[in-house]
Amino acid sequence: MIDGLTGRVAVVTGGASGIGAACATLLEESGAVVLVADLGGDDPVDVTDRAALDALAGRIDAEHGGLDVLINAAGVLTPNLPVDELPTDDFRRAYEVNVIGTVNTCQAFSPLLRARRGAVVNVASQAALVSLPMQAAYTAAKGAVAALTRSLAIDWAEAGVRANAVAPGFTLTPMTEAFFENEVFTEAATKRIPLGRILGADEIAAAIVFLASPLASAITGVTLPVDGGWTAGEPALPW
Ligand code: NAI
Repeated sequence: MIDGLTGRVAVVTGGASGIGAACATLLEESGAVVLVADLGGDDPVDVTDRAALDALAGRIDAEHGGLDVLINAAGVLTPNLPVDELPTDDFRRAYEVNVIGTVNTCQAFSPLLRARRGAVVNVASQAALVSLPMQAAYTAAKGAVAALTRSLAIDWAEAGVRANAVAPGFTLTPMTEAFFENEVFTEAATKRIPLGRILGADEIAAAIVFLASPLASAITGVTLPVDGGWTAGEPALPW
């Protein structure tokens, strides 16, 4: 449970699975009213469909009287390929969901967030900070999410709306579970993580919901690595 969220209204894109679902659970445990916007939710919403998001904003205003928190966790990977072989359509798809989807929700919910001096948290990736091999489109798109977060923070600062991002490392979710079924991959990834383990979705959600809460009232424009130390450097050497 995170303090200061009782009665707050929150939208979580990608909230039907993995990190987004863990955010929805923690927000509810913290007393917030949570609306999930997900292709796989009870009431499917596609973040690439701006008209659907405008309609959702209208419904939230009518039924809940405003919005305090927007968490953008909807995201997609592309097939693992070297950049030379990456189809342009895969590149477009990575941008369409991860970047334009985030722009769409931020624009659609901006009037509601401004009215309540709300907070946005975007889910980038450690790939926003260091390259993820064979994932050029995802890496570029998540880099754009981090840059977009800085722009949102500055453009919205006068209105008192905060915008931050988290940059998760390898986290066990439906997006990645197929990778972790490969023992060779899992061993190599685990060795590369200074904390020596794959992360849990609840650990990423804790950082996201903290940034969305009044506890983070002085923080805007940051991309916070939540990666077990991956972007800090290589694990210790046996000197
Ligand atoms: P997940 O695949 O479990 O959940 C993603 C959710 O997004 C799904 O419920 C899916 O239906 C939804 N979604 C996808 N496209 C959508 C669209 N167009 N409109 C609405 N909803 C859509 O994945 P996970 O791992 O929970 O990922 C959440 C976020 O965290 C993503 O942005 C991902 O890129 C990011 N991330 C994940 C990491 C990991 O290791 N799992 C590491 C770093 C970042």
